[in-house]
Amino acid sequence: MVKIFNLEREYLDNREQLIDIFDRTCRRGEFVMGDEVKAFEADFARYLGLSFSVGVGSGTDAIRMGGLACGLVAGDKVVTTPNTYVATVMALSPHGITPVLCDIEADTYTMDPGRLEEILEKEQGIKLCIPVHLYGHPARMDEINTLCADYGASVFEDACQAHGALYKGRRVGAFGLAAAFSFYPTKNLGCLGDGGGIATDNREVYEKATALRNYGQKTKHAHEIEGFNSRLDELQAAILRYKLTYLDESNRKRRAIAEIYREGLKDTPLVLPKEREWAHHVYHLYVVRSTERDELATYLKEKGVTTLIHYPTPIHLQGAYRSLGYKLGDFPVSEEASRQILSLPMYPGLLKEEVESVCASIKAFYSR
Ligand SMILES: Cc1ncc(COP(=O)(O)O)c(C=O)c1O
Repeated sequence: MVKIFNLEREYLDNREQLIDIFDRTCRRGEFVMGDEVKAFEADFARYLGLSFSVGVGSGTDAIRMGGLACGLVAGDKVVTTPNTYVATVMALSPHGITPVLCDIEADTYTMDPGRLEEILEKEQGIKLCIPVHLYGHPARMDEINTLCADYGASVFEDACQAHGALYKGRRVGAFGLAAAFSFYPTKNLGCLGDGGGIATDNREVYEKATALRNYGQKTKHAHEIEGFNSRLDELQAAILRYKLTYLDESNRKRRAIAEIYREGLKDTPLVLPKEREWAHHVYHLYVVRSTERDELATYLKEKGVTTLIHYPTPIHLQGAYRSLGYKLGDFPVSEEASRQILSLPMYPGLLKEEVESVCASIKAFYSR
């Protein structure tokens, strides 16, 4: 059986350290908003080359509170892509913020700057643009930033799938006004539960985000703005601090696995992931494309290989977003991708023999 993710394996590899972290944190008796959170925030900001990061309860909350900290209010419009996890839009739409959608590039699945320009021209007054570094591949940040500057929109990166990915040599999360990260367990940097982070170089955004996550207070019992209770807890922060020390090593292992897949699958009809020359892909997911996607997934399941689809239904075709008024055919590149994409097993502890056995099963599918 080859699983798509395998969190038990990572736990067992780090069991002693994690038990020690649990023990030390519990002995200190501080569980929410303590020194571990502060230390992780400083470490993560340093890792990204930024001044600030803010630990919050999830990646969704990082988009929600990060977006609000960047100045979004009810009635504003944001632009993002249709082929992202629903959280990218659902973080903000319940606050009266309208998502406008922009199709993607077919080979990297990230925002197409050509389409973005048309949308910024047509939909005047978009306040925030949210490119998603999907599957671990960076979006075209230079083009997106230039266009947004021309049209007066700020940029907010959804980096929930791209911890440690590089755009032109610099870690993503540092290319807009702010960025959101998810620390959901399966992510490249994941904790043992829900968690998220907002990253920024802007002091005002940082201070507002810090207040928003803690009932809108800057000092105790002074609630200047309406906020939330969405904080990263001490145990998760301590675990993330430890796991951050081997994030780059984990990403190297993911890239090595991607290489084995590339070699093993190069002679099959599958379309393999693309890495642009300016990008350092961190393969949060290894997503291939096939016109026989569903048959292939069923075949692999029979052979003991689990796969998933990220994501089978684009945002504009989801029931919750019917009211946006989009229809089938509006985003052809995303729609075609959603019919063909398949995520193969990918996690740092995946063994070479396991990757080779997945490749062998795929080859057997095509020669059946
Ligand atoms: C692109 C993207 N954005 C946002 C999120 C939301 O993160 P979380 O699950 O931590 O709320 C995810 C997580 O799956 C994601 O993949």
